Amino acid sequence: MTETFDFDRYDRIRPIRWTGDALELLDQRKLPFEVEYVRCPTSESVAEAIGALTVRGAPAIGIAAAWGLVLAARNVEADDGVEAAALLAPAIAHLNAARPTAVNLAWALARMRRVLLAASSDWRDVLEREARLISEEDLAANRRMGALGAALIEPGSNVLTHCNTGSLATAGFGTALGVIRAGVAQGRINEVFAGETRPWLQGARLTVWELQQDGIAPTLIADAAASHLMKSGKVQWVVVGADRICANGDTANKIGTYQLAIAARHHGVKFMVAAPASTVDMETPSGDSIHIEERDPGELFGIGSVRTAAMEIGAWNPVFDVTPHDLIDAIVTERGIIEHPDESAMRAAFGG
Ligand code: MRU
Repeated sequence: MTETFDFDRYDRIRPIRWTGDALELLDQRKLPFEVEYVRCPTSESVAEAIGALTVRGAPAIGIAAAWGLVLAARNVEADDGVEAAALLAPAIAHLNAARPTAVNLAWALARMRRVLLAASSDWRDVLEREARLISEEDLAANRRMGALGAALIEPGSNVLTHCNTGSLATAGFGTALGVIRAGVAQGRINEVFAGETRPWLQGARLTVWELQQDGIAPTLIADAAASHLMKSGKVQWVVVGADRICANGDTANKIGTYQLAIAARHHGVKFMVAAPASTVDMETPSGDSIHIEERDPGELFGIGSVRTAAMEIGAWNPVFDVTPHDLIDAIVTERGIIEHPDESAMRAAFGG
């Protein structure tokens, strides 16, 4: 794909910037109308930014948490990594608790802790190197996934995506949106449909804006229009990301993904999940064991600060759901493609 995709011309958005003494996060609460970075000088401010969705998307929150730990290390005096790990345990726990569903958060912190435990007096440098590596590896994984996933899409196809899985949700290029970027660049994809993704509107506010930066003109649909779109024969693939892929291939992703998978199967539309190996959690046997984040019901009462719901009502706001593995045609990671995922295919690819 490197021959056909000009990475320097496209994909220039970077949601996370390390300045040497702070983490700068592109404030995704304000997009697309304000492009503004928030400065986080402490691990506490990074944890708060993750919880508030200033930074969001499974890989991006893992990367942000890794840098959060680098910031926490500034307040700790220790002779080696083992001593530092003990002193940093509260900061790790605090960052880890910022959001529950995306495994990339716990994965990144566990990886940081592992290298810390093996480090000697240079443990601070080791942490900083690892955070940078996590970010660089994520970008490389996304580019690889883009090439692999796009190859599954027949030329002349249209696709539907959900939530935001692009540069904004990762170190760059994106997972599902990386597949779509690559597919458009290769002439395989004609039209990209993006669901609004109520209530936080990651599709309407972020995906559509992000694709516009690349000169791709997506078509926005209401989430409720997806089945009708499929029935009309206007899409051949649904391409989504993931927050956690279990040992049997069950996949947690943004609320609404499950109903897209059901509708896709009903209408003979293919369903692809694209995610880095850091999203695979072989310790969780199936989707039944995933902690689904529930956010403030107030997110459902309006759009932005404009109230649209009747007053004094109740609401339920789970922000992820689980798509059972038998509704997924392909899981694409940087390690390869798993068609018709199930436990034996997952174990063959990821061990454990
Ligand atoms: O609540 P969010 O915006 O963090 O949810 C993000 C998603 O569900 C994405 O689809 C997922 O993290 C994959 S991002 C590459």
